[in-house]
Amino acid sequence: MAVRNIRIEGDPILNKIAKEIKAVTPRIKELAEDMLDTMYEANGVGLAAPQVGILRRLVVIDVGDENGPYVMLNPTIVESDGEQTGDEGCLSVPGKAGTVTRPNHVIAKYYDLDMNECTVEGNELLARAICHELDHLDGHLYTEIVEGELKDTIAPEDEEEED
Ligand code: NI
Repeated sequence: MAVRNIRIEGDPILNKIAKEIKAVTPRIKELAEDMLDTMYEANGVGLAAPQVGILRRLVVIDVGDENGPYVMLNPTIVESDGEQTGDEGCLSVPGKAGTVTRPNHVIAKYYDLDMNECTVEGNELLARAICHELDHLDGHLYTEIVEGELKDTIAPEDEEEED
C-alpha cells in the first residue's frame, strides 16, 4: 500500500491536459493501486492521476456500487443525458463543497488494466463522479463551474481536533 501526496488547487499540474496511456506498464499498474489506496485513505469516491502529479489519462472511482471500484484508462463519455444539481467536493479542494449541475446519466468507454475495452453506465452519483474525474484529465476543477459560493465542510471544532 502506498498513499501518494494529493495535489491541491493552485498546483499548476491540475490545469494541464493528461496524456493517453498507450500500454499498461508495471508503473501504470502501480499507479492505479496507489491511486485506490490514496482515494480510500482520503475517504474520496474518485481520484484522477493528475491529482497525484501524474499527467496520464487514468481515474479511479468507487461510489460503493456492486461493480466498483472502477479503474479507467483513457476514459471518454460517449453518451450523457438528464440533469442533476447537487453538492460536489474534490480531494484537491479540501474542506470545501459547492453546487454543481451535471448529467444524471452517462455512458463511458474506457480500458481496464488488461487493455480490454469496457463500458460503464452510471446514474446519479456515479454519473457525477465520472464527469468530475474526466474533467480532471482535461485540467478542469469543479470550482470552475460551481453555482454560487463554495461552502466549508469542516466545522471549526473538527479543525481543532486535527492537531
Ligand atoms: Ni476532484
